[in-house]
Amino acid sequence: MTNIVCIGAGYVGGPTMAVMAQNCPHHRIVVVDINEARIAAWQSDHLPIYEPGLDEIVRAVRGKNLVFSTEVDRHIAEADIIFVSVNTPTKMFGQGAGRAADLQYWEKTARQIVRNATTPKIVVEKSTLPVRTAEAMEHILNSNDKGLYFDVVSNPEFLAEGTAIRDMQAPDRVLVGAHTTPSGRKALEAVVEIYANWVPRERIITTNLWSSELSKLTANAFLAQRISSINAISALCEQTEADVTEVAHAIGMDSRIGPKFLRASVGFGGSCFQKDILNLVYLCEYYGLPEVAHYWEQVVRMNEYQEARFVSNMLSAMFNTVAGKRIALLGAAFKAHTSDTRESPALAVCRALLDERAAVVLSDPHALDNARADLGDQAAQVIFEPDPYAAADGAYAIAVLTEWPQFASLDYEAIFRSMVKPAFIFDGRDILDHQGLFDIGFNVYAIGKPSLVHFNSSTPRPS
Ligand code: NAD
Ligand code: UGA
Repeated sequence: MTNIVCIGAGYVGGPTMAVMAQNCPHHRIVVVDINEARIAAWQSDHLPIYEPGLDEIVRAVRGKNLVFSTEVDRHIAEADIIFVSVNTPTKMFGQGAGRAADLQYWEKTARQIVRNATTPKIVVEKSTLPVRTAEAMEHILNSNDKGLYFDVVSNPEFLAEGTAIRDMQAPDRVLVGAHTTPSGRKALEAVVEIYANWVPRERIITTNLWSSELSKLTANAFLAQRISSINAISALCEQTEADVTEVAHAIGMDSRIGPKFLRASVGFGGSCFQKDILNLVYLCEYYGLPEVAHYWEQVVRMNEYQEARFVSNMLSAMFNTVAGKRIALLGAAFKAHTSDTRESPALAVCRALLDERAAVVLSDPHALDNARADLGDQAAQVIFEPDPYAAADGAYAIAVLTEWPQFASLDYEAIFRSMVKPAFIFDGRDILDHQGLFDIGFNVYAIGKPSLVHFNSSTPRPS
């Protein structure tokens, strides 16, 4: 039996360790966090995150070989292998503000490990980190006066929210990086052995430490780049009557390009794409590569442009004013099947519409609590309404901002009847039947598609 501890019970620590516990009944896994409320939620029937399939797994293994605890120090002392999955947000102060990764939580964890360890340990980087962080980690861990040696292994996580359980159960690949020294190889093999309990060996890739760290940032940069690329084309489609879905399909059939991650949208969100690319930009600048930094920064700038463009399109369609108008926003989560609203384009649109003094009603099946918290002071100006029909009642416009499948199958005839006319619908995820909505009577605006409107531009503007 190996004593495995995971520091950080968030979106990564919770689901990854639950799946690990399920597949490794012979290992004992403890997930620790300093956030007492979060640990209490993990111990309860209301888990702190919504993730399809997670409840069932946690119920099956919790109290058997999976434990959630706030006793960080004690469990560090007992651990053989420590996965660290604490948050590594964008630094908002001092040097590198707005770009570099804020490594304070990470460094505190390293120091906490040294303080409490009485035996050597393998420390696994699960958080997403700048390339060469392991070097700093090793300096902190191995500058101890207890005679203890710590091996640092990189094992970045590639799960996506909403499909986290599936991604963990059957990953495209697991990546493990370590030094090529005898001790490093032994540590690497110990981590590989854990995954080999359920992941086929050929899907477990091993590399040197720096390749592993950099592969994580690169994977996110490439994924986000595809979205920004198709979103850039969506803007051109709207000017030329080309249809971005058709273009995406046509290029995606090329096996060199492939069909995935080509869904044009109001923009990508989530806690990681933006922060990881900005971190990559910072690293390139740090290593004296301004052209490379500039290249990647455009992926983030294009995303900001796409969000802003969506709101501008709403405004110009609605006669350049939304002040006092009720607008129903369908979706708050940054993507479907999650309650996470971090960096959600839905909230960016919500804030922009509040600045325009619209009366915003926000509807989402799982993410309203997080949306309320994220909006902070502005939450007081928003109506939170779980029922999309109630949200749309009396609205001038609807905007679909998260691709929850249920939004595609609402009774839009009934919704149309309940709205102020002319009724507008803006599909920020291209999930609706646009011609059908137009036939009902809506004026329809979708990403990267010709708009379908019942009046032409020569219609006089209302006074
Ligand atoms: P999160 O904010 O949901 O969770 C991090 C947790 O770490 C928090 O609960 C926090 O209280 C805890 N923590 C911070 N300092 C601590 C300390 N000293 N001791 C104990 N607990 C501490 O973050 P997350 O979304 O789980 O992401 C964690 C890391 O994984 C980040 O580096 C992120 O980039 C990366 N990642 C995230 C995802 C994702 O889908 N969210 C996917 C892959 C990788
Ligand atoms: C992403 C990566 O997919 C994971 O591999 C990675 O582990 C994770 O980031 C991370 O490091 O945090 P996640 O952000 O959870 O996962 O979700 P994605 O499915 O990648 O979606 C990100 C955003 O892009 C969402 O807002 C989604 O709606 C949007 N998106 C995605 C599009 O607009 N178009 C697409 O074609 C795909």
